[in-house]
Amino acid sequence: MISKTMENALNKQIELEGYASFFYLSMASWCDREGLEGCAKFLHRQSDEERNHMLRIFHYISEVDGHALTPNIPQPPHEFESIQQILELVYAHEQKVTKSINEMLGLCYKENDYNTLNFLQWYVEEQREEENLARGILDKVKLIGNGSQSLYFIDQELERINTQQLAAEAASGEA
Ligand code: FEO
Repeated sequence: MISKTMENALNKQIELEGYASFFYLSMASWCDREGLEGCAKFLHRQSDEERNHMLRIFHYISEVDGHALTPNIPQPPHEFESIQQILELVYAHEQKVTKSINEMLGLCYKENDYNTLNFLQWYVEEQREEENLARGILDKVKLIGNGSQSLYFIDQELERINTQQLAAEAASGEA
């Protein structure tokens, strides 16, 4: 059994994760159009990951006898200025997600909900990794520069990171 307050908070988190999935999907589409294949692959995978984050919460709510709601997801932007801007937006969104997870942890203590506290531990670790990854890539892009000649190297770098992430997921048994 889960409290209504916690159920509402988890449903809000479903919206945030669902939005992230669509946001990154929109970014992937922009990269595809711009011929940035490596960046597009990276963002498609990030989008899939966010959908999994959303579904994980969805199933959890049902498991604890709550009511999981399909999210009302607003349209994300479809146009972007540059790959650097995209990565800045990814990093900012990940920070927003981390803040929301942290607020939910506080709510777990308030509600004496240790099941949800335990469930959210996975997200704490995931957010640490995702923020770290986004910040690391952004730092590299700033170093390489955002000019047209740099784009080729940025694209290759994101392709490399994506391949690395896929291998790590396969090794840990994650899809
Ligand atoms: Fe699921 Fe990257 O927040």
